[in-house]
Amino acid sequence: MSKHLTVVDHPLVQHKLTLMREKDTSTASFRRLLREISLLLAYEVTREMQMTTKRIETPLCEMDAPVIEGKKLALVSILRAGNGLMDGILELIPAARVGFIGLYRDEATLKPVQYYNKLPEQMGDRLTIVVDPMLATGNSSAAAIDLVKASGAKDIRFLCLLAAPEGVARMAEAHPDVPVITASLDQRLDDRGYIVPGLGDAGDRMFGTK
Ligand code: URA
Repeated sequence: MSKHLTVVDHPLVQHKLTLMREKDTSTASFRRLLREISLLLAYEVTREMQMTTKRIETPLCEMDAPVIEGKKLALVSILRAGNGLMDGILELIPAARVGFIGLYRDEATLKPVQYYNKLPEQMGDRLTIVVDPMLATGNSSAAAIDLVKASGAKDIRFLCLLAAPEGVARMAEAHPDVPVITASLDQRLDDRGYIVPGLGDAGDRMFGTK
């Protein structure tokens, strides 16, 4: 995957995203749509996985059949909203190894501070997909990818639902080697750091909090 930014403009993705954006969409519908959309995005983000063949026997004959090469992939969720996006992907790739990174923003320095970091072993040998629905300023995403790289990961992708131009620019500057896959490149950030037009607070909408 060579492009830094890929917008998945598939009609099903775009239709479901519109339903998710609507402010009156219920928590239950939002969750269902997120699960469905994450399956479609998982399809795109894994498109260029390395393949090999294995010798199998069908009821008719032997063949060299395609299988995914190498170690199980690693999914890394940025807490807490990343979990909603990860659940659907795990349905499609149930053998994936899973990691979690928790970051909060220090109100004095405005810098992300790590409070949790648990990643799978042998990250250097795995395709790693870092998931967070909202790429807003890009500060926490870039910091999460710093941690993933520190664990040895080399082949990394970042998957989100919505991206702001500011977040994409930050990621391109901090991690030009990490492709970003999103369902939409939105217009801008507002002065509270929300993506516009966006969908509001992704965590609140998927967990029914305020
Ligand atoms: N995080 C969210 O949940 N929503 C935004 O719009 C920006 C960051």
